[in-house]
Amino acid sequence: MATPARQAWRQLIRTSSRSPATPSNLLQQQRLALRRQASTSTRAPSRRAVAPSPSALLRPQPSARRSYSSGPQGNQQTPPPPPPPPRSNGNQVKFWPFVIVIACGSGGYMLLVNRRKEIPPSQRATPPDMAPTKPTPAFSAADVTVLFVLGGPGAGKGTQCARLVHDYGFTHLSAGDLLRAEQDRPGSQYGQLIRDCIKNGAIVPQEVTIALLEQAMRAAMAAASANRRFLIDGFPRKMDQALKFEEVVCPARLVLFYDCPEAEMERRLMERGKTSGRADDNADSIRKRFRTFVDTSMPVVTHYEAGDRVVKIDATPTPDQVYAVTQQRLKQALGDKF
Ligand code: C5P
Ligand code: MG
Repeated sequence: MATPARQAWRQLIRTSSRSPATPSNLLQQQRLALRRQASTSTRAPSRRAVAPSPSALLRPQPSARRSYSSGPQGNQQTPPPPPPPPRSNGNQVKFWPFVIVIACGSGGYMLLVNRRKEIPPSQRATPPDMAPTKPTPAFSAADVTVLFVLGGPGAGKGTQCARLVHDYGFTHLSAGDLLRAEQDRPGSQYGQLIRDCIKNGAIVPQEVTIALLEQAMRAAMAAASANRRFLIDGFPRKMDQALKFEEVVCPARLVLFYDCPEAEMERRLMERGKTSGRADDNADSIRKRFRTFVDTSMPVVTHYEAGDRVVKIDATPTPDQVYAVTQQRLKQALGDKF
């Protein structure tokens, strides 16, 4: 095997025979040969050090020849997979700062949570926008007794309330009566709205009815007799009335529900219409009122039944018979001296 020095010398002879042998040429060629010799003898053979020749770059690379079909490719040999990239410690060094930041953050958060647990709830600072916004009712159930009286139109609510007022000293507030009074009050901005609703058996917006009821309750409590026990008749006729009243005015103790078949209620209303002078005691309005009762008011009864606050009474018999049952059931619910 030829030594690197001998190879360099041969190369020098070959090159000098191809180019004119001027002194400067010879000197240059000699230097070139010596430089080649030096590089061949000192550099270890390495894949990275070999620069690809232009023809090698034009040759299709393994990836360019790769087929994406899953079937066999005849006699073509699958090129071996490229070697895995060398693992470098640099990636691990970049990863650790994140681990440290996350660990510090989690630790700090746990510390804050544990410290907050030690503070009694009353002393914990709550951001203003997270403060509870639920209003407190104007009257508490401990000071004021409210019984809602429900039933379809013509079920006999007003008749039973009058007897309870007489015997037990309740204050009777009929939502329908308050609305009719407001409708007729000179200068009322709700007059026409109430008139239209009543005629069509529709429900008046809760804000109006609740404001009238609260005003009437305040007036009753401010009077010399200062009665704090209320029968609120014909209310709530819709879920929003029920929820709002209990939220802003007073929680109700229970609901007296007078249950009566439509045929009986219609008979009573048509009879009453002969003398009542009410704009809604006629066949057309009665039909609409029944519809509203089934669709809008019965869900209120169902809501209170779910909370076990309903005293349901069959309102088909005579007023005396219904009243006897009413007294008996109220005694059971509220005690003998209700
Ligand atoms: O209770 P009454 O039958 O007197 O009610 C008459 C009308 O007053 C209802 O048909 C309805 O239009 C209106 N009203 C209401 N909300 C209530 C009570 C009565 O809109 N809670
Ligand atoms: Mg009535």
